[in-house]
Amino acid sequence: MTEHWSPHSWQAYEALQQPDYPDGAALAAAEAELASYPPLASLAEAEALKGRIAQAQAGRAFFLQGGDCAESFAEFSPANIDASFRLIMAMSERLGRASGLPIVKSARMAGQFAKPRSTLSETKQDQTLPAYRGDIVNGIAFDPASRAPDPARMFRAYAQAYATLSRLRALAEAEGAELYTCHEALLLPYEQSLVRTDPESGRSWGSSAPFLWIGDRTRFPGSAHVELARGLVNPLGIKCGPSLGPDMLLQLLDSLNPQREPGRITLISRMGAGTVEAALPPLLRAVRSSGHPVLWSCDPMHGNTVKAASGYKTRPFQRILDEVRSFFAITRAEGVSPGGIHIEMTGQDVTECTGGAAEVTEQDLADRYHTHCDPRLNPAQAMELAELVADLLKA
Ligand code: PEP
Ligand code: CO
Repeated sequence: MTEHWSPHSWQAYEALQQPDYPDGAALAAAEAELASYPPLASLAEAEALKGRIAQAQAGRAFFLQGGDCAESFAEFSPANIDASFRLIMAMSERLGRASGLPIVKSARMAGQFAKPRSTLSETKQDQTLPAYRGDIVNGIAFDPASRAPDPARMFRAYAQAYATLSRLRALAEAEGAELYTCHEALLLPYEQSLVRTDPESGRSWGSSAPFLWIGDRTRFPGSAHVELARGLVNPLGIKCGPSLGPDMLLQLLDSLNPQREPGRITLISRMGAGTVEAALPPLLRAVRSSGHPVLWSCDPMHGNTVKAASGYKTRPFQRILDEVRSFFAITRAEGVSPGGIHIEMTGQDVTECTGGAAEVTEQDLADRYHTHCDPRLNPAQAMELAELVADLLKA
């Protein structure tokens, strides 16, 4: 990587998972306009959350991240925001009571709009269209107009994020709670346009949310996403999937946290229930012997996605619980503290993941399957998971 960083320096690097905007002038105009907007998250909030994550690294707090896989324009309502907020609070209360630790809370909300996809296009009958990349990029309906990437969608996403944030802040204030937001910093034109620089210190931060993460598909060395993130002061997440080896991980830590600042890096393991035993220990050992300060968190969702016979993407709840159990056992066996969980869930009573006490079956999936991307836990499943984590934290 070159030494000089700017909000634009990522443009010289390999940018995967970006839309192909048909109108370059419209994109440039949208970027310029967004660059003049108020920040959604302040530098102080990003710094405060980094301090809280540093506490979790020291074993004095636990980090809970949860919310939508993909927020959508269609599901935007105060009822949905309130329900997800209440669910995060209920989980936090359960975990806090069991562990005696403060729970640092960060909602995958108010900005979680862009999605990485495994294929560039989608074909139905004899029509091939660009893949859906999240409402901030294009529409989910399978027709050419909806699927065309439109930079004006970034304004609607920004506005929805602002309104969601204001609602979350009011709810949190009423409860005397502290809630941060987070999302994957995937859509580079949007994230770049929301970089702000403090005139006094000259420090830049990503103002789209206090906590940003780099997804498993874009966290390779030489990636434009890594280049953009490295110059921001925000606390950062790195998704760690089975293809991430120890050498690559250490290279990432050296570029993203050369000063080895506490609270800066959260490593989010998302290996899959059958893979975590083999894939995680080498990473834990390499990071430990490097001396890099990190928080290890578990995302038990993204390694456990399967296709039901009916065609729905789902996740068997049992495998989610299995991965969490294995994560706690493996980290503890390696003398590393299991510091957080990162899950996809919603306050709505959906039927997207199979299993749980209410026994959602593959036949039930069609009932209330509303997600715009990956299957989420419903409130009953999320609370059941919180019970398990509470027991593990007590142990
Ligand atoms: C996600 O968190 O929604 C996601 C796409 O995760 P990952 O990058 O780990 O696949
Ligand atoms: Co997802």
